[in-house]
Amino acid sequence: MIKNMPDLKKAQVRRKHDVSIIENSLNIPEDMVNIGQNKYYHIVTYGCQANERDTETMNGILEEMGYTYIEDANKADVVLLNTCAVRDNAEQKVFGKVGAIKTLKKTRPDLIFGLCGCMAQEEATVNEILKKYQHIDLVFGTHNINDLPQLLKEALNEQTTIIDVKSEEGDVYENLPTRRDNHYKAWVNVMFGCDKFCTYCIVPYTRGTERSRSLSHILEEVKELKDSGYQEITLLGQNVNAYGKDLDEGNDFAILLEEVAKIGIPRIRFMSSHPWDFTDEMIRVIGQYDNIMPFIHLPVQAGNDDILKIMNRQYTIEQYKELFNKLKEAKVNASFSTDIIVGFPNETEEQFLQTLDIVEYCQFDNAFTFVYSPREGTPAARMDDNVPLEEKKDRLQRLNKVVNKYMQQQNERFDGEIVNVLVDGPSKKDKTVLSGYSQHNKLVNFKGDDSLIGQIIPVKITKVKTWSLEGEVLV
Ligand code: SAH
Ligand code: SF4
Ligand code: F3S
Repeated sequence: MIKNMPDLKKAQVRRKHDVSIIENSLNIPEDMVNIGQNKYYHIVTYGCQANERDTETMNGILEEMGYTYIEDANKADVVLLNTCAVRDNAEQKVFGKVGAIKTLKKTRPDLIFGLCGCMAQEEATVNEILKKYQHIDLVFGTHNINDLPQLLKEALNEQTTIIDVKSEEGDVYENLPTRRDNHYKAWVNVMFGCDKFCTYCIVPYTRGTERSRSLSHILEEVKELKDSGYQEITLLGQNVNAYGKDLDEGNDFAILLEEVAKIGIPRIRFMSSHPWDFTDEMIRVIGQYDNIMPFIHLPVQAGNDDILKIMNRQYTIEQYKELFNKLKEAKVNASFSTDIIVGFPNETEEQFLQTLDIVEYCQFDNAFTFVYSPREGTPAARMDDNVPLEEKKDRLQRLNKVVNKYMQQQNERFDGEIVNVLVDGPSKKDKTVLSGYSQHNKLVNFKGDDSLIGQIIPVKITKVKTWSLEGEVLV
């Protein structure tokens, strides 16, 4: 049953409209209130923190209906894939999983299998699903997570795939239930969507218009997190520092950040900030508060002005450097990370070398580097491209070499130093050691007692590697 199909044309539109804040948006049909008793759900999350946070909301909604989380997807009664569309390889991973679940569905025909998140917002993807993947029971998008109880009901009662994806600009939903995965670190949405329309990027189409939560809702959430013992929050937005531009309140990200800092939660992070939206006042606030962590993610994307222009990034490399230097001055000893794309259509060798130059200049602590991936519906995907894939991959390797050199070099700043680490738990790679992140967002491994989990503790760094640090606990 097709209720709403995603519509690329609608997703491209930005009208001046008032975003509605919907206070109590969850409506569980009466016969669904206890439907999940003795039943299990499993959600696989792909992509960025926006999706991780959405999964926490879906966890909350499903648990409200009585479902219990189960680690093993094979035993679940409801399996959802919360998908990412940002690059082709992200989508291929999802299609691989969709294929695997087809086999499971054969042995467990009662299983409800749903696909949501950013891929669901793509017209072409949903058309493909309708053609090739009829074992999917439910497809819904990023704008109607609150409808999950109703949609699940329909999926339980209908034989055909239920499709309900909205491509309008979206509203802000408050007070949805949440089950957070982590009890010490929390994601806090401050705004949704993106209006930047970088020419390579699908996100503005999958997430809708930029819309901010009200300052009071955000502060209330942060206070609650602090009161329940959270040590760290990350303020989230596709362009977190565009916060407030759509509000009549006159609030902006500088005001928000300062108010959040004053609440006194030990650690505050934010991501991603766009160079375009940075103001001097934001830089002042970042510099002034010690609980705003000395780690800034500032995507540069490319090192050449012409490429930046065709990407629609709205800054020149000089402007990026100026901003970088101001931040560095305001937040002494801060670490910086960035995002970089190589092989944008028609990128020349000289232009690519300028990307290496900006890495040499900024000496980033970390960089997320990608080969450009054409996304259907975006302007860049319609551009001719004379750079062969092999060349793009080669550029990525050359870039990563320089990136890794500076990662190692920046990590060496901490050799022999004492850093404060928020302990996450046993290391993913070696269960006999604990790991956590320092203020500068460095992964630190060390031997210690499980009772340290969730605490911020001093660790003396004894060994420096490219991807992590090792140390000894000082408590
Ligand atoms: N809103 C964030 C980033 C979202 S996507 C920001 O603007 O900073 C994360 C990163 O994926 C981007 O910064 C970009 O480097 C990369 N990316 C986005 N679209 C891409 C594409 N089509 N091909 C390759 N990388 C892409
Ligand atoms: Fe994509 Fe650009 Fe928006 Fe980031 S700012 S989400 S890269 S369009
Ligand atoms: Fe992917 Fe959507 Fe995030 S496309 S990167 S999950 S906003």
